[in-house]
Amino acid sequence: MSSIFAAPTAGSVPLHLIARAEAEDWLTARGRAVQNAAKTQNWSGKLGQILCLSEQGLPVRLAIGYGDAAERKRKRFGAVAGLPNMPDQVFELVECHQDWAEEFALAFTLGKYRYDRYATNAVPKAALICPAGVDAEKIEAIVSGEFLTRDLINTPANDMGPAELEAAARDLAKTYAADISVVTGDELIAQNFPLIHAVGRASPRAPRLIDLSWGTSGPRLTLVGKGVCFDTGGLNLKPGGSMGLMKKDMGGAAHVLGLAKMIMAKKLPVQLRVLVPAVENAIGGSAFRPQDILKSRRGLTVEINNTDAEGRLVLADALTLADESPCDVMICMATLTGAARVAVGPDIAPYFTQDVDLSHEIATAATAVDDPVWQLPLHAPYEAMIEPGIADLDNAPAGGFAGAITAALFLQRFVSKTQKFVHFDCYGWQPSAAPARPKGGVGQGTRALFQALPRILNL
Ligand code: BES
Ligand code: MN
Ligand code: ZN
Repeated sequence: MSSIFAAPTAGSVPLHLIARAEAEDWLTARGRAVQNAAKTQNWSGKLGQILCLSEQGLPVRLAIGYGDAAERKRKRFGAVAGLPNMPDQVFELVECHQDWAEEFALAFTLGKYRYDRYATNAVPKAALICPAGVDAEKIEAIVSGEFLTRDLINTPANDMGPAELEAAARDLAKTYAADISVVTGDELIAQNFPLIHAVGRASPRAPRLIDLSWGTSGPRLTLVGKGVCFDTGGLNLKPGGSMGLMKKDMGGAAHVLGLAKMIMAKKLPVQLRVLVPAVENAIGGSAFRPQDILKSRRGLTVEINNTDAEGRLVLADALTLADESPCDVMICMATLTGAARVAVGPDIAPYFTQDVDLSHEIATAATAVDDPVWQLPLHAPYEAMIEPGIADLDNAPAGGFAGAITAALFLQRFVSKTQKFVHFDCYGWQPSAAPARPKGGVGQGTRALFQALPRILNL
């Protein structure tokens, strides 16, 4: 029995989702008392409006306005999520359109997220019985994956260093009987992960590469996530304002671990691999420097023109390793550039791929599950911008034009041309509270990917 839904109970309160166009007929059919209640509560079926019908002071029936098509298109998912004004009771969705039931169940349960590691933050008590015809396991998988992503991002760097990120991955591996191995500290040099080592070596908290695998048959899916547990910028130190949020720079890792959790919880028939280079980009006497030229695992040399462009470095070695074994689809997720934020703001996860079908499946799924993404181009003529002359690659082209694109082009150099590959430049952060997304860490693109996987991988 899944835990995010309430067990069916005789005392449950019926809950209706009523589109605005149907509101009047619905009220009429239910009679005078209900019409009066709608009038006094100013309820007209607008998206997210709650009509509460009581007997002897206790709610006995709720109707949630489901708005009109245009309203729903923009924000139906958020508007009904975790409805904060619902009484502390157990609700049962009744007479609901089947295609609304699943999204409502998901929105409702996602809306219950609270981060409470350091202070109590009570979860709303209103509970939902899993609606008929809705796959409780699927919702449970998505919600638990998303909550993992949020928890990992929200945890500050003092409690979420490379070792703690490893512990979280080990925890996940244990829960689903996945295999996990980790290469740590100087062993990274011995095993040829020079860029991961270079970025992480100034921190007393040793850098590492986490490698989790799960599933013995089916198509192969490899996820790679940026795990920079804190990004000071390195010797090219970030100004305070830009450093303020950098506990979330392991957001890519949090995304791929959350997506992995969804996949394993739902037991998708895939062979999954998750790679996370986990480091702290710190300052110190042993830090890598501007103008250092480092040789990557792939053999390409990289001139460091900004130690703050560290994400692409650690990902380069992880992608190289991923690319050494065959896989059907490779997905990279990273809080890679500020430029991606300038381009699309905090809500949208830009993604890059050369594969038209893959792109189409991702975009279609994203729309279906209200998890907005947008494709940006891997514009080949900009390749010249990442070629410095005295090394194969430049990690931080001067000028800063097209920063998200040049970062994606950099990553692409470490993946075979024939490999189906997509890279997401996510923000991973909700700047101010929205329904289903309290202020703080948030997954972006992972629900879309989870939705798209069956078609992408022909499951
Ligand atoms: N972690 C940052 C990118 C970032 C900044 C993501 C703010 C989300 C919000 C990354 O490591 C970084 O510092 N990138 C630099 C690259 C530049 C030096 C080429 C950036 O985007 O400014
Ligand atoms: Mn940086
Ligand atoms: Zn970073």
